[in-house]
Amino acid sequence: MTSPTATPTAAGPSTGSVLEIRDLHVTVGEGDDAKEILRGVDLTVRGGETHAIMGPNGSGKSTLAYSIAGHPKYTITGGTVTLDGEDVLAMTVDERARAGLFLAMQYPVEVPGVSVSNFLRTAATAVTGQAPKLRTWVKDVKTEMDALEMDSAFAERNVNEGFSGGEKKRHEILQMRLLKPKVAILDETDSGLDVDALRIVSEGVNRAKADSPVGVLLITHYTRILRYIKPDFVHVFVAGRIVEEGGSELADKLENEGYAAYVKDSAEQAAAEAETA
Ligand SMILES: Nc1ncnc2c1ncn2[C@@H]1O[C@H](COP(=O)(O)OP(=O)(O)O)[C@@H](O)[C@H]1O
Ligand SMILES: [Mg+2]
Repeated sequence: MTSPTATPTAAGPSTGSVLEIRDLHVTVGEGDDAKEILRGVDLTVRGGETHAIMGPNGSGKSTLAYSIAGHPKYTITGGTVTLDGEDVLAMTVDERARAGLFLAMQYPVEVPGVSVSNFLRTAATAVTGQAPKLRTWVKDVKTEMDALEMDSAFAERNVNEGFSGGEKKRHEILQMRLLKPKVAILDETDSGLDVDALRIVSEGVNRAKADSPVGVLLITHYTRILRYIKPDFVHVFVAGRIVEEGGSELADKLENEGYAAYVKDSAEQAAAEAETA
């Protein structure tokens, strides 16, 4: 493309943002109940890259997502998170969103009394600092709702109230499409979706990737979404840290062999660390 105003369509070092996580340690719970969940996470997500984080239930994947997004339940006890060199951990939740971070939650929360339409416009205003122009906004919302095969009546329903699993996940991706983050963290966006919904939601993510050099952190414990959204890197996440990294071929290995071998290694290592501590 030769037009100087064209939106970049390919990732390049000069176009994308960089999220850097270094030796991140996070605990949940208070006082004597405090438990270390993240035990030294290192990860770099560059604009245009898609990273899959795969691991068993309870390994701390959602903890990682919420810690980056700034959920108050999680206490950062060590390490750093930066976005283009800016200290993310020093930012409020709002500031993180304005900086370009987006989290699609594993369990999206209900917001009674607030319609999808109002919610989206308020979110877009908060993230960009100004209300989107009504004409283009209405058109953008409609275009993306059509693409996600969402009925227009959906816009007038209260956020997540009585939504099916598939509707919740489509709504998360609708937000991602409209807010245009620099880095999107998708926490089990595939869970609870039938094959058609999985394809529709995945296509939404792929449209975002085609439109801008967004960095995607795709958290999942099933490999099936990776058939639709191709990861550049796969990280195996067990017991609060990354224990193996590879390309998309690693997902195929996990598909066949599961996490058992990694879980066993991690348990042995944790026991050894506890002994020497
Ligand atoms: N508020 C909490 N209090 C105590 N433990 C918690 C809390 N929230 C999460 N955990 C524990 O943290 C661990 C990691 O949970 P989570 O990050 O949700 O894992 P995943 O998303 O990989 O399934 C689990 O053992 C879970 O029970
Ligand atoms: Mg989770």
